[in-house]
Amino acid sequence: RENFIIAIDGFSSCGKSTVAKAIAKKLNFVFVDSGAMYRAVTLYFLRNRIDFNDTEAINKALENIHIDFIPNTEKTQILLNGEDISDEIRQMEVSEKVSEVSAIKEVRHAMVAQQQKLGARRDIVMDGRDIGTTVFPDADLKIFMTADPLVRANRRFAELTAKGETVTLEEIIENLAHRDHIDSTREESPLRQAEDAIVLDNSNLTQEAQLDFVLEEYNKRK
Ligand code: C5P
Repeated sequence: RENFIIAIDGFSSCGKSTVAKAIAKKLNFVFVDSGAMYRAVTLYFLRNRIDFNDTEAINKALENIHIDFIPNTEKTQILLNGEDISDEIRQMEVSEKVSEVSAIKEVRHAMVAQQQKLGARRDIVMDGRDIGTTVFPDADLKIFMTADPLVRANRRFAELTAKGETVTLEEIIENLAHRDHIDSTREESPLRQAEDAIVLDNSNLTQEAQLDFVLEEYNKRK
């Protein structure tokens, strides 16, 4: 393999995407937010009232779901069948169901296949839960991010209220714990630290310090 792959995994709201985006910009890599893909599938299932237990309906839905990323300077847009859903997938309605949807075997197989295709030939940084363990077990650099749960909840709270969403800190704490639990205990590619991953606890680190940390590890391996 000629291309360089950076995998960033970790718990919900640890700031994985923020670091991943900064790295991608710095190194001129393609950035892929794999969580956004699971969120897009969840949004489709909710809109079309897909029963999470109906495998046939799920498989049919998956055939009809096309996800594209439009990279641009400010933020990467995500399209679901051509529609920009970048903002809608961040709403609590989606956050509350996304871990259930992500635990469905058929959903995971479809998304992992797409993610592997995206990283087949290009230098890429992808963040998620199972990137270093399942999607790219041979990634050149694997980072596992953690942060204090209250720090994470406060960050997410600030982010959502800034967007005008009415949500309480308690709801967010509950949602993060709920997602982490389902993500870590599901049967199909659960969230866990790859053996060769480097831990980055960013509870008390600025974004610059996090970027420097990852760049230093990259420079050791390039
Ligand atoms: O990264 P983000 O928090 O947006 O991801 C939303 C949800 O998508 C996670 O809570 C998890 O359930 C699921 N996910 C996953 N595997 C990934 C990325 C996200 O199961 N690689």
